[in-house]
Amino acid sequence: MKIDIKRIENRINEIGNIGKVSSGGVTRFPYTDEEKKTKELIINWGNEIGLNVFEDSIGNVIFHKDGLKNNGEIILMGSHIDSVPNGGKYDGVAGIVSYLEIMEIFHENKIKTKYPLEFIIFVNEEGCRFPIGLMGSSALAGRLSKEDLYENKDREGLILAKEMERYGYDPDKIMEVKYPLEKVKAYFELHIEQGGVLDTRDIPIGIVDGITGLSVLTVKIGGISGHAGAFPMEGRRDPLITATKIIQFVQKTALEYGNTARGTVGDIRVLPGGSNVIPSTVEFTIDYRDLNFENMKNAIRKITRYSKEISSESGVQCTIDVNQMIKPVLSNYKLIKEISNSAERLEIPYMNLPSGAGHDAMIIGQFCPMAMIFIRSVGGVSHCPEEYSTSRDIGLGTKVLMDTLLKVAN
Ligand code: GLV
Ligand code: MN
Ligand code: MN
Repeated sequence: MKIDIKRIENRINEIGNIGKVSSGGVTRFPYTDEEKKTKELIINWGNEIGLNVFEDSIGNVIFHKDGLKNNGEIILMGSHIDSVPNGGKYDGVAGIVSYLEIMEIFHENKIKTKYPLEFIIFVNEEGCRFPIGLMGSSALAGRLSKEDLYENKDREGLILAKEMERYGYDPDKIMEVKYPLEKVKAYFELHIEQGGVLDTRDIPIGIVDGITGLSVLTVKIGGISGHAGAFPMEGRRDPLITATKIIQFVQKTALEYGNTARGTVGDIRVLPGGSNVIPSTVEFTIDYRDLNFENMKNAIRKITRYSKEISSESGVQCTIDVNQMIKPVLSNYKLIKEISNSAERLEIPYMNLPSGAGHDAMIIGQFCPMAMIFIRSVGGVSHCPEEYSTSRDIGLGTKVLMDTLLKVAN
């Protein structure tokens, strides 16, 4: 059974053309025409090979292939098609295209596994438009409420629930999205590696042993606005000055906690936003991660304490919301072993490594056995237009995953 590398490449490029932006990358946000068009394309490919396709009430798309034994037990895979602003073509998409390729081959060769196979396009994995990443998988896990959907807004102030409705989804039915994860015998996610670890060592495939913990905070600082020329320098309550101190502190803290800690401020808004106006409000995000959960929680406590203290000293108001706080999660050792066995059988070099990036697997993996296959990222760049993995490497990862499925699903 031969993986069609050209088909993988063509599909990645075809999807990559949807949402292409002038700065060279791809912007494909949830609940947009670009997302809709991409789903339609993939659903069409799924229909052509006889998969049962179902879209749930928030927009996760589920592709199902019956097994010989349909008693509810299932082998699940997942990934996403949304992107960061001006992102790359491979993040998320590589997984979906790989699952489709496996389903194509099983269809062509009339292969039916004992347990049914399913793969899911999870909605809003990145959380860049609506700051509630890993949303689709969280909903499957029953961890998302109707209130979350009505409270969450994008930069334009558009309400998530309303945007969902505009595309025909029903936020009020969020609880119906809950999935029987206790019936999932194994969850797999194939993804590009996004760092330089595999590329530096010239290894095409990685097997993930665990995913780093992830937290996202929103900090809002309110000060006193005024005329940039008329208002004296003394006595200003400029929230941006305080924000810069907190941002420096985030970096300092992550450096202090060492090797596995990461702290990033990647989104900031200065209001009202005029060159000659002292800002009234500054809002920014903090993305903080660590493989060590205790260290992650302590670091966030430290950053919160510092933010309050420095704000109070500077006479500005500071509120901090924790949007997300997800524990690090370990892959299932039996599945790791199955994947390693497959790679060895196929004589494909691999190594074990942790994932510094977040994935839907960290939600699903809290409820059922989970494992991830990583594909080498050339130059270790990701979340930018330069993101690149060769079709050959994606083909190798697909081959390993297919071989693993034939074992685990039978
Ligand atoms: C997902 O791309 C993440 O933010 O790790
Ligand atoms: Mn990503
Ligand atoms: Mn991703």
